Amino acid sequence: MSGRLTDADGRERVEFTFEGDAVSAYAGDTIAMALWAAQAAALRRSSSAGEPRGVLCNMGVCYECLVTVDGHNVRSCMTVVRAGMVVERGGRQ
Ligand code: FES
Repeated sequence: MSGRLTDADGRERVEFTFEGDAVSAYAGDTIAMALWAAQAAALRRSSSAGEPRGVLCNMGVCYECLVTVDGHNVRSCMTVVRAGMVVERGGRQ
């Protein structure tokens, strides 16, 4: 069991893309949680070693979760999904 809420709770679905792949999320989810649910945990690569980075603090402090949305770097744990947004792996710190 994933622990994920089902459609039965009545929340609207929102579609966006991550690295060109379609992702379906619940309206109101952050990008980080939507990608976590979609099993896309590597949100960026470290600038030094190229290692995968993902959600660490989940409260907007660490910047480990940076992604690029429509050309702008954002913290995915602080940004709510929008229909049609184009999300790419992370910006540089
Ligand atoms: S996970 Fe730390 S800022 Fe997003």
